[in-house]
Amino acid sequence: MRLSDDDKAMLDGAEGPAVAAAMDLLVRYGQALDAEQLCDVRNVAGTMTQPSPVKARLVREGGWHKAFAVINLDCDDELEIPDMRVPTCQLQQGFGPDSAGVVPYPAEMIKLQSEAEAFYGRKGVNILATCTPYQVGNLPVRGEHCAWMESSAVIYANSVLGARTNCEGTASTGAASLTGRIPCWGNHLAENRYGTHLIDATVPIDDPMEWGMLGYFAGDLVQEARPVVVGELAIPDLLELKHFGAAAASSGGVELYHLPGITPEAPTVEAAFGPHSIPDAVAYGRGERQAMYETLNGQGSSTDVDFVLLGCPHASLDQVRMTAKLLDGKRLKAQLWMMVPRSLKTAADRSGYTEIIEAAGARVLADSCPAMSRAAPPGTRVFATDSAKQAHYLPAILGIEAWFGSLEDCIDAAINGRWRGELE
Ligand code: F3S
Repeated sequence: MRLSDDDKAMLDGAEGPAVAAAMDLLVRYGQALDAEQLCDVRNVAGTMTQPSPVKARLVREGGWHKAFAVINLDCDDELEIPDMRVPTCQLQQGFGPDSAGVVPYPAEMIKLQSEAEAFYGRKGVNILATCTPYQVGNLPVRGEHCAWMESSAVIYANSVLGARTNCEGTASTGAASLTGRIPCWGNHLAENRYGTHLIDATVPIDDPMEWGMLGYFAGDLVQEARPVVVGELAIPDLLELKHFGAAAASSGGVELYHLPGITPEAPTVEAAFGPHSIPDAVAYGRGERQAMYETLNGQGSSTDVDFVLLGCPHASLDQVRMTAKLLDGKRLKAQLWMMVPRSLKTAADRSGYTEIIEAAGARVLADSCPAMSRAAPPGTRVFATDSAKQAHYLPAILGIEAWFGSLEDCIDAAINGRWRGELE
């Protein structure tokens, strides 16, 4: 792999042993991928603060520098961790102190989380604490090389923003944050950003649930390739793009899609496929839509709903507003948690939405989610959600049944304690 003079200097220790360890990791990683070089990144999104029993042990044995070296640099040496070299943010993490008594989450993990924030914050990690950094001010521009983790964020950055990132890991984002470099392969290269499959939606795609089901279909169809979607698409908003991408990255490993005339790298279908010929379209019609709905509801059996989960990926302020409107003056039979980025929770609090939602008996929670922190209200056997991603993962993580539907279906389930959703 070709290294710049700066890369070589970092590798040789010019900026200290931690940066040298970071560069060593990136060189090994790049060589394994046959990357020709590293590229500059100035936007890293990783999970430095996420608490875990392994991290607790490392901190006990060697302090926070040791924990970063082992977990974020894959290095057992004693290293002094310097400040982050490039802008770096924390994605979703563990639950914070304000979740105590609400979320069944271990007190020692809450404490570890708080200590991690203090350490990494001082090192220059922006504690955004959300899987949707693009909702709270971290918006890379088109063509900008990034090093992001979190599949739902990666697909949004590549497809909607036109930024360039692979789905990175804990160690590669740690190394990128200290060097401002990442192997230049995969989604960083223009030739790997053209569409591979064409999907023609012959049913109207005009609300978040429809976008979620279409995304689930696209991911299942193309797996790790790049779908181009045309047809009866209403112009999607941020919420719908969030649901589409998260679903496609759950049923498959999609990191980049194109919606011709909507997403930035595909002004036309021809542009979406670039030098490649346009493949025959695969139809997404009534039958495929019905099949997706049945698949997403394939893990629901009892209609007695204990728990409703909204905000996966973390909710937009508009989702919180819509939820407040539907819950205004109601009382709930089931528990309802809505996950939001902490800075949007502040806005929701100031807008009066949180008060309305919590007066109904629901909770607006920040920082984490049930899948990430393996936590749901005690006794949950059946949950409902408007998120294809959460319906895909949570039954396996927590061993519970799942129902998938619209926001209105989920609110109805929370109010009545029963699932009555149907595909219209
Ligand atoms: Fe975010 Fe958790 Fe969903 S991290 S994307 S709310 S599974």
